[in-house]
Amino acid sequence: MKVLILPDAQAAIARAADIITRAVAAKPDAVLGLATGGTMVPLYDELARRHRDESVSFAQTTSFNLDEYIGLAPDHPCSYHHYMQEAFFDHVDIDPARTHLPKGDAPDPQAASEAYEALIAQAGGIDLQLLGIGQNGHIGFNEPTASLGSRTRIKTLTRSTREANQRYFASFDETPQYAITTGVATILESRKCLLIATGASKAEAVAQMVEGPLAAVCPASALQLHKRATIILDTEAAGNLALRDYYETVHPRGRDSAFD
Ligand code: GLP
Repeated sequence: MKVLILPDAQAAIARAADIITRAVAAKPDAVLGLATGGTMVPLYDELARRHRDESVSFAQTTSFNLDEYIGLAPDHPCSYHHYMQEAFFDHVDIDPARTHLPKGDAPDPQAASEAYEALIAQAGGIDLQLLGIGQNGHIGFNEPTASLGSRTRIKTLTRSTREANQRYFASFDETPQYAITTGVATILESRKCLLIATGASKAEAVAQMVEGPLAAVCPASALQLHKRATIILDTEAAGNLALRDYYETVHPRGRDSAFD
């Protein structure tokens, strides 16, 4: 794991945007694994700005989002389809036909999950998987105790995740209880992973992910098995790391080391 600690959230987002724009420059038809959540909003803003001001192009990329709520149609204002449209797709030159999210309103969500997994494989797998982390250590909607061998499927959301996401809905009861999410194994198969965490509320989950045991109770800890996982943190999210000095020695201010 490459742990990069940046002075603040803005610097963390800029560092992540550098990695993504470099990946797309190196491989214009890259398959991107995209994520949602509050953490990603400034990242998509920054990528849209680079598209506008610096001609960064997503025209040939293909994207697969991690997850979608079951029961929400794409035009539902709280769906991840809607989030992606508003936050990113509407502001860049990505081809809508090559953007994919699980179909939360599919009549048969299990069949839709299997079809989604097959579609990722058909596209040749994911080159760069973007990830956030839940306060409980989830990645995508792989909640604590999710199988580390899991594939795209239906997951029941924990009460804590529903409470964390309630802010987007009118009430707790209206916050969906089920989602389709790519699995931990699907995520581990990506050629590179880029997880971003900012703010003190993520410090405990980050410490468990990086320094805790490899355990399904913290699904993000599965990234310990990934050969090319980069974790981008601001100082607050890095606050509980026991080996923080070491990470800062290897990558001062989150810069690449001489051996990267
Ligand atoms: C959601 C998403 C995750 C995301 C997480 C953190 O539940 N399914 O993919 O990483 O929440 O979100 P936030 O960035 O808002 O803290």
